[in-house]
Amino acid sequence: MTVTDRSYALALDEKDPLKAFRERFVITDPNICYLDGNSLGRLPKQTIEIVNKYLINEWGTQAVEGWAHWIDEAQSTGDLIGRATLGAAAGQVLACDTTSVNFFQLVGAAIAARPNRKTMIIDAANFPTDRYILQGIAERHGMKLIIIDNESEGAAEYERITPDILEPYLSDDVAFVTLEVIQYRSGARTDIKAITDLVRKYGALTIWDASHAVGAIDMDFDANGVDLAVGCTYKYGNSGPGSPAWLYVNKRVQNELQVPIQGWFAQSNQFEMGPDFKKNPTIRGFQIASPSLIGLRCIQSAFSMIEEASIEAIAQKCAVGTEMMINLYDAWLADLGFTLNTSRNPSERGGHVSLIHPDALKISIALRKFANVVPDYRVPNSIRLAISPLPTSYVEVWDGFQRLRDLVSTRQYEKVEIEGTNVT
Ligand SMILES: Cc1ncc(COP(=O)(O)O)c(C=O)c1O
Repeated sequence: MTVTDRSYALALDEKDPLKAFRERFVITDPNICYLDGNSLGRLPKQTIEIVNKYLINEWGTQAVEGWAHWIDEAQSTGDLIGRATLGAAAGQVLACDTTSVNFFQLVGAAIAARPNRKTMIIDAANFPTDRYILQGIAERHGMKLIIIDNESEGAAEYERITPDILEPYLSDDVAFVTLEVIQYRSGARTDIKAITDLVRKYGALTIWDASHAVGAIDMDFDANGVDLAVGCTYKYGNSGPGSPAWLYVNKRVQNELQVPIQGWFAQSNQFEMGPDFKKNPTIRGFQIASPSLIGLRCIQSAFSMIEEASIEAIAQKCAVGTEMMINLYDAWLADLGFTLNTSRNPSERGGHVSLIHPDALKISIALRKFANVVPDYRVPNSIRLAISPLPTSYVEVWDGFQRLRDLVSTRQYEKVEIEGTNVT
């Protein structure tokens, strides 16, 4: 049986230890190939029940009394995220705000913790929000921003920043380095431990953005000595559009760090309402304000499923699923003008692969319109295709690739109209 036989994918599904999870998601169209779980995960059925119960039995009946047991939920939900996906012991993760706000907060804390250092380092292929935030901080606070080129021809394989690429930029003026664990566009996975160790040798901090990694791969933050990290919960985390993000601050550095927005939830004795700010010595000292309870319940629902499945089994399915995609690319797509933009080494990728094609935008739109396949397009020429291990089956991925092959080999995609759309 070769990868180009549909029975190859069916056999993988048959022996998939996670196969029972698919039924626990809302999938209204059985024929759709939803390969965009790296952008927005699917809705777990139990989330509907959990949120409904929260509305009726808690907010509805308890009203303000509910705060007595809601008040610490950013912490307990953070502990769940840490335990289920990050390899983080309790007391180091908060579920709160957005990835962008959390990133801004940790950047501010890192700069304040290294007052004599004026340099920040990021890579050119990093997610826009991280780059824009640093540009703003550089302008307002007179910091120097180094943007490592990992986009031009030959600069870095699959945009992947290695210690060798990074080291020439490091010095005793660097306050922090920030990178993505998995590049949002190419899908390249960075070596968390090697980079963190190298940056620490220069006395600087590392801030990881793990948005495309959380819920797809095993990151072992504590064991890998990570200082600081942020990420979202709505991609492989399946917690819903705009669900709260998270931040991780290793206990080792919690005392030396102070975020710039010192809100009332970070205050040592919050309800004494005292005149002066005194930072809570626990992870609570990094929380700004009131948590979104409905959002937190969505996270609890989805991340408890991840914990039940185990991140090891999830990571394994990402590795096998992306390998199948790469083999299908070799068999069907390489001759149709596509170029693989993701590493063939499973330890250098996560849950999505990126395929480059000069007509990527048209093909992405045509996949949705003509083929009932949901991919994800990123400028200028890349199509991202993901396996989200709990809701996605192997055969769903296989069918999606076959439809992609047919759409391009018949040139049917050329008939699609490119209409204005803001979100892909
Ligand atoms: C790597 C990365 N960082 C940050 C963000 C922004 O997240 P948020 O809208 O929660 O701030 C995203 C969104 O997709 C992302 O992919």
